[in-house]
Amino acid sequence: MHFHLDSLWHAEEGAMEFALTNCGSTPVTNPRLVYATLTRCLRPSKCTGARLVRRQANFHEYASDEGFVLAPGETWRFTEHSLTRPALHSNEGPKSAGVLLEDDTLVLAFAGDLQASVVEGCATAAQNAALTCGVLPEPKRVAISNWAETAPVHLALQSDDAAVMQLVSRVSELTRRLHPLAPTPFVLTAKEDVALLCITPDQTLPADGYRIIWDEGKTTLHHGSGQGLFYGLVSLAQMLTHAHAEPQRYGVPLSGEIEDAPRHGWRGAHLDVSRQFYPLDQVLRYVDIMAWHKMNRFHWHLTDDEGWRLEIKAYPQLTETAAHTGMDLPVLPQLGPDMTGQSGFYTQDEARQVVKHAAQFGIEVMPEIDVPGHCACVLGALPDLVDPEEPESYWSVQGFANNALNPAIEGSYTFAETVLAEVCEIFPFEVVHVGGDEVAEGAWMQSPKAQAMMRETGLKDTPELQAYFLRHIQTYLAGLGRKLGGWEEVAHGGGLDPEHSLLFAWTTIEKTAELAQEGYDVISTPGQAYYLDMALSDAWYAPGASWAGFTPLDKTYAFEADNGDPALQGRLKGVQACVWSEHLTTMARRNHMIFPRLSAIAEAGWSAAENKAYDRFKSLAELMPSL
Ligand code: ACM
Repeated sequence: MHFHLDSLWHAEEGAMEFALTNCGSTPVTNPRLVYATLTRCLRPSKCTGARLVRRQANFHEYASDEGFVLAPGETWRFTEHSLTRPALHSNEGPKSAGVLLEDDTLVLAFAGDLQASVVEGCATAAQNAALTCGVLPEPKRVAISNWAETAPVHLALQSDDAAVMQLVSRVSELTRRLHPLAPTPFVLTAKEDVALLCITPDQTLPADGYRIIWDEGKTTLHHGSGQGLFYGLVSLAQMLTHAHAEPQRYGVPLSGEIEDAPRHGWRGAHLDVSRQFYPLDQVLRYVDIMAWHKMNRFHWHLTDDEGWRLEIKAYPQLTETAAHTGMDLPVLPQLGPDMTGQSGFYTQDEARQVVKHAAQFGIEVMPEIDVPGHCACVLGALPDLVDPEEPESYWSVQGFANNALNPAIEGSYTFAETVLAEVCEIFPFEVVHVGGDEVAEGAWMQSPKAQAMMRETGLKDTPELQAYFLRHIQTYLAGLGRKLGGWEEVAHGGGLDPEHSLLFAWTTIEKTAELAQEGYDVISTPGQAYYLDMALSDAWYAPGASWAGFTPLDKTYAFEADNGDPALQGRLKGVQACVWSEHLTTMARRNHMIFPRLSAIAEAGWSAAENKAYDRFKSLAELMPSL
């Protein structure tokens, strides 16, 4: 269910009009609208089209006429004439709203700005030849013949399709979350003199493509059958938001055309929530920011040595123990905010909430359960998975001893399969990432169980044992209809079946083509350009890591994953930003390190190489949201 509430101020009558639209797919009988506003109604109420049921301070409840049915795509309008005082600002309409169903269930509604009595626009520098559309990533083709002198505050949707209304409402909601000071860009009910937005499906466009045509102020958005409508709406929302923020630089066309479609199918952003735990609202906001950048794959790095972050019902030890560091715990305080240690995990319901939130914007969530390496907290919580005879004999690059699930222990397979079965229940995306990175050289070589296994099977070293383990996991995932995602090391020790794999090249720039050459589908995320934990400069006080050098914004922006190597043809599936969190201990650092380099990677994922232009990008990137 989704409801959208528009409110309109009628100054000449001193009245406020409400328009509640049912953007869901089920009719609602006898709806009651509840909302809170500082422009309160006086008693007795003088309302046409509804009846005041309750009012307490700013809380209001109105009922429809008995027997009224609000059908999908329809709007219930009513007007209250008895108000305490006139409204003077757009925030004097409902601040929040909801619909009470017949059984008293509350369904939240999105409440847009109070629309002004006289429609105001925002004066732009329309005569300025350098005015641009303010859309990031840069669209494929932009041909504007002239600009509106007054950019509309919002566009009024002309559609009776509830699903279209819902998406339009959700893009307004997204814009409100990311740009709370800007007007919300779309309304479903408006005064007559507002700029109109028409929507037309067009099967000839690419599924995720769109075309916007402006004809003397009327805007028509043509869209393909996939995410094209959403991407076109985001472009319009950005255009209005940026014209409002910087009218000297960004405008809204009066006539002209934009044609657009993504360059790469995979436009990813990764987030390591193990080294630092990000509360659910920050994860949801990260997804919002991805949506605003037209990114479409959220790589959620849910486990690592320092903390396990997902509830697994079969192994309560993971959230009771492995999700915590502390002085008395198997994993001592590591990189969290302080020496008291760090705790945090997402319940399965919360993870599903992230999947649902992302899905409304066409974003797929790829979970990562990092095995067999990076399992210090798992082995601390589940000591039965350790070979008791194995001495402390290998150390990960991060300094953890004996931190990899042992392929010679039956429980390692049971553990991985049981966890992945639950993971697949939560995350519907076809790729499940199982890590595979950074198993230390010599791992398991002094485990008597591993030595016996090597004698029996002929497997001869760590990479071969790892590949054996991962092949088993790949077969298990294939049985669940999933592909195995993994870091580039998955190709070591004989590798896996490329048909059911998607690999992430990270250690060098050349690695993407090397993996493609070996027949793997690849995502390019080289540490040298796309790891957003790398410091921005070599200055002593520049926060970040430096194993891959330092990475100023222009370096990230200039990087092109497709360097023309023929091996990449058909194998390079896209690009991804990786946000490793070891150094991202505070919100200030997160924002400093992630933005605007994330915007640069979003543009590389979407825009043609010949459309990239650093100066244009840099000015606009400053207006993009942060956490
Ligand atoms: C990685 O950075 N360990 C994939």
